[in-house]
Amino acid sequence: MTKQLLLLPGDGIGPEVTAQSRRIVDRLNADAGLDVVMSEARFGGAAIDADGVPLTPKTLAQALAADAVLMGAVGGPQWAKQSYDKRPEAGLLKLRSGMGAFANLRPARCFAALADASSLKRELVEGLDILFVRELTGGVYFGEPRGIEDLGNGERRGVNTQVYTSSEIRRVARVAFDLAKGRTGRVCSAEKSNVMESGLLWREEVQALRDAEYPHIDLSHMLADNTAMQLVKNPRQFDVILTDNLFGDILSDEAAMLTGSLGMLPSAALGEAGKPGLYEPIHGSAPDIAGQGVANPCASILSLAMALRYSLGRPDLAERVEAAVEAALDNGARTGDLGGKLGTTAMADAIIAGL
Ligand code: NAD
Ligand code: IPM
Ligand code: MN
Repeated sequence: MTKQLLLLPGDGIGPEVTAQSRRIVDRLNADAGLDVVMSEARFGGAAIDADGVPLTPKTLAQALAADAVLMGAVGGPQWAKQSYDKRPEAGLLKLRSGMGAFANLRPARCFAALADASSLKRELVEGLDILFVRELTGGVYFGEPRGIEDLGNGERRGVNTQVYTSSEIRRVARVAFDLAKGRTGRVCSAEKSNVMESGLLWREEVQALRDAEYPHIDLSHMLADNTAMQLVKNPRQFDVILTDNLFGDILSDEAAMLTGSLGMLPSAALGEAGKPGLYEPIHGSAPDIAGQGVANPCASILSLAMALRYSLGRPDLAERVEAAVEAALDNGARTGDLGGKLGTTAMADAIIAGL
């Protein structure tokens, strides 16, 4: 059955890396029996420039009507002076919440060939395979009240609200537990229950769900600051890490360096069964290297692999794409962030050669 994939290339290196994923889809359509129709829409800063807003209602409707959405990245210094709701990043939050994509899967896997590209010693990261399950449509990113108010005495006050309900916590914890069943069954839940009521509720709800419905899951709890430290001390102690929106953002960027580069990490944002998934690299628009043709396309290509697995009905091709990335790395293909010299297109060429 024909599946629809909406591409949202976005800003900076977003279009550069998304173009390489498009080549992979073209190739799989031609040679591997894939039946995916791609369409493309402006998103983020590119949409602000053309349409005045980062996410138009039409683009959101297109996203909801697709089987999967592959996003590049948004943001850049040219839009950083706009009021908050006019920024590219606000469009991304709107897209995530509009799609109901509350569970963000961020696998941090160290490919064997990249064990020496990590900033940690090889013996700490070899074989690393962590799955972050990050809550994506709640917490301090969305809580009200929010804003900057003028106190009138030369002072201003910036406010954001960290807030979670039981059902928001339980539905993402369920995703983590279900995925852990197919792994080693270990889930570590990270929060700050020592100082935050929302963190205490998080811990209690996660534990209660485990006790009621997932007796075989080996659940542990860890304070998020300690989790950050343990990730660089002994990262292989972790299997699935379940955490909230803000801690998940920070801890997954930290974990990216364990795998060699931020340019390697894909993600999938999933909602209720049957809803389209949102797939995106965890990196941003990388304004420092945008336009140079040097960005690593692996995170985008591996995000496409996750789309093949979770939304496009072709887990076999997901494995094939992942194996092609691994083979390219085994053969020494490296972009600059991995210590090599290949440009974006040449790196994708090496991956396509292995397909
Ligand atoms: P960034 O992830 O864009 O870049 C951090 C560093 O990693 C930079 O040195 C960059 O060159 C490097 N890098 C990132 N991706 C790379 C790749 N594929 N290949 C090689 N090197 C890569 O983070 P930042 O600089 O803090 O943010 C820049 C902009 O991106 C901001 O506007 C931010 O809001 C936005 N952002 C967007 C997303 C997203 O769209 N999902 C994610 C993170 C940041
Ligand atoms: C990410 C990004 C986003 C986030 C920003 C751009 C809204 O950093 O996807 O990791 O914080 O979720
Ligand atoms: Mn981030």
